[in-house]
Amino acid sequence: MGQKSPRQNEQESVNKDIHVAIFASGAGSNAKKIIEHFKDSKNIRVSLIVCNKPGAGVIKIAESRNIPVLIIKKDRFFFEDAYVPELKKYKIDFIVLAGFLWKIPVALIEIYPDKIINIHPALLPKYGGKNMYGNYVHEAVINSGDKETGITIHYVDEEYDNGKIIFQEKCSIDENETPETLADKVHALEHKIYPQIIEDVIKSQFNN
Ligand code: GRF
Repeated sequence: MGQKSPRQNEQESVNKDIHVAIFASGAGSNAKKIIEHFKDSKNIRVSLIVCNKPGAGVIKIAESRNIPVLIIKKDRFFFEDAYVPELKKYKIDFIVLAGFLWKIPVALIEIYPDKIINIHPALLPKYGGKNMYGNYVHEAVINSGDKETGITIHYVDEEYDNGKIIFQEKCSIDENETPETLADKVHALEHKIYPQIIEDVIKSQFNN
């Protein structure tokens, strides 16, 4: 076999399947929408769900769609190989966080530079950081008296909720809003927007 031409190489990288891992540890409503979004994609595959909570809702969602689930443990994630061998085994190119509460170790960020993104249920840099998740965020937003909140999609670095912002979308905070009603509103926004932004980022980064 002769050497491949630059054109052939370029063509191959354009046609290559891009394997996505979703890291999620909660109900998995975002993971579900993302999986549905890429179900018929030409070359973007949700190939793995990574979860640190046995029994989390996202596991059932993955199983019902025949997507492998990797349950991870703290010690190995933070102090050993960060499960890189498993991510390589599944040929993971890109990581999407969707309700994953652990910090991402530097070891993983170095292997996936600008290839890990997260969604946060508020307008960062407000209401981010450790322990700012779920209803804690919405409670803080309502108590602040702010008139609007929203979602932030951002790259992941070694600090919580700190990486470069990719996209934000706002929604209003109505009178009598509760953390629960606000959570529903923000979730609806996330479901509508996150899958398409993931697709746009992957397409721009992998040239396909
Ligand atoms: C979402 O609100 C997301 O912003 C945050 O965690 C929540 C996950 O919800 N990072 P779900 O498990 O996708 O329903």
